[in-house]
Amino acid sequence: MKINQADIEETLITKSEISERIKVLGNEIDAYYSDLLHADENLIVLGILNGSAVFMSDLIRELQTHIAIDWMSLSSYGSGTKSSGVVRVLKDLTLDVKGKHILIAEDILDSGLTLSWLVKNLKTRDVASVEIVSLLKKDLGKAHDKRVSPKWVGFDIPNKFVVGYGLDYADRYRNLPYIGVLSPKVYE
Ligand code: IMP
Ligand code: MG
Repeated sequence: MKINQADIEETLITKSEISERIKVLGNEIDAYYSDLLHADENLIVLGILNGSAVFMSDLIRELQTHIAIDWMSLSSYGSGTKSSGVVRVLKDLTLDVKGKHILIAEDILDSGLTLSWLVKNLKTRDVASVEIVSLLKKDLGKAHDKRVSPKWVGFDIPNKFVVGYGLDYADRYRNLPYIGVLSPKVYE
């Protein structure tokens, strides 16, 4: 069955807005790492499956820095719309990251529970640095001041459940080329 357009209440960020923003992020990331990496060193761009896959594949094509990519799969959400707070590693790194500069590419920063757990975990592996680029960051007001702060954010968005461009609800909608607000009718 095809996606019902009525499931999407509102288009929040269009396909072309996303691609323009990722070009800018790519330039900023290149500039930041140009002094940090030696000639024979790769930046490790670490994608968090499955949500970051679409963002990651577009982002790396805007980078001129030498990179290696790796993926982790973490679970904190199940198929609902609220963070469970429990992080499970479903797939760990493949590369040896000791002494490496890591850039985590994430789809969305919500409570920050997943990423703060991951940053702590990576630091125990003696990496040279860990930074985060998150395509989206939800505005949660003052309640979540302690969550991790990404060095780069694509878009600050309101605290609504969004899908598309890699983001899912119960595994669906990742293939929408834009980011939209999911109609509450779909999950209520
Ligand atoms: P956090 O641990 O609460 O920051 O949750 C982050 C993860 O939850 C993201 O990587 C997404 O997979 C998922 N998530 C959080 N908010 C949304 C949303 O609005 N739509 C789809 N997935 C979301
Ligand atoms: Mg995710």
